[in-house]
Amino acid sequence: MSKNSLIVYYSHSGNTRKLAKLIAEETGGTLCELVPEKFYPDDYNTVVEQAKKEIQAGFKPELKTKVKDISAYDTVFIGTPNWWSTIAPPVATFLESYDLSEKNVVPFCTHGGGGSGHIEAIVKKSCPDSAVLSVLSVYDDTARDSLVESWLKKTGVK
Ligand SMILES: Cc1cc2nc3c(=O)[nH]c(=O)nc-3n(C[C@H](O)[C@H](O)[C@H](O)COP(=O)(O)O)c2cc1C
Repeated sequence: MSKNSLIVYYSHSGNTRKLAKLIAEETGGTLCELVPEKFYPDDYNTVVEQAKKEIQAGFKPELKTKVKDISAYDTVFIGTPNWWSTIAPPVATFLESYDLSEKNVVPFCTHGGGGSGHIEAIVKKSCPDSAVLSVLSVYDDTARDSLVESWLKKTGVK
């Protein structure tokens, strides 16, 4: 199904980055890490509180990352950690900034036990004119190539 895949993700502590890299290896797609202009603090409790405020306010941080030619991709994977049961604010900025209509959009996330929360629903709402596939949700850093491969087959991407 997919000719040109872009794998866009934000990762604070590395778990979603690991999963994104496995997806890139399996699909041959292009990796694109979303880097905010202002880094989130490393301290867990501090970032948890900051994220709560940002999500409640609908804050969308400026990104250093720019995708040059989004039209070159027919499939866009979108990866995020589960932050307060939803997407991390840098991913919200990405979704607001690019037109993904007529593309396949494939959400994926890592989480700390809460699963994918509202992530699939939020991506669907943000991409009303895209074909949004079911989310791949992986606990913590447990992503494995076999798991990614079977999920890609199930979604029809591979
Ligand atoms: C700000 C913040 C909020 C979080 N909220 C949730 C949550 O609501 N549910 C959950 O299961 N995990 C939650 N977690 C845990 C992360 O989703 C989990 O550690 C994830 O794998 C981190 O991905 P990363 O390493 O790519 O940043 C939260 C972590 C942070 C830092």
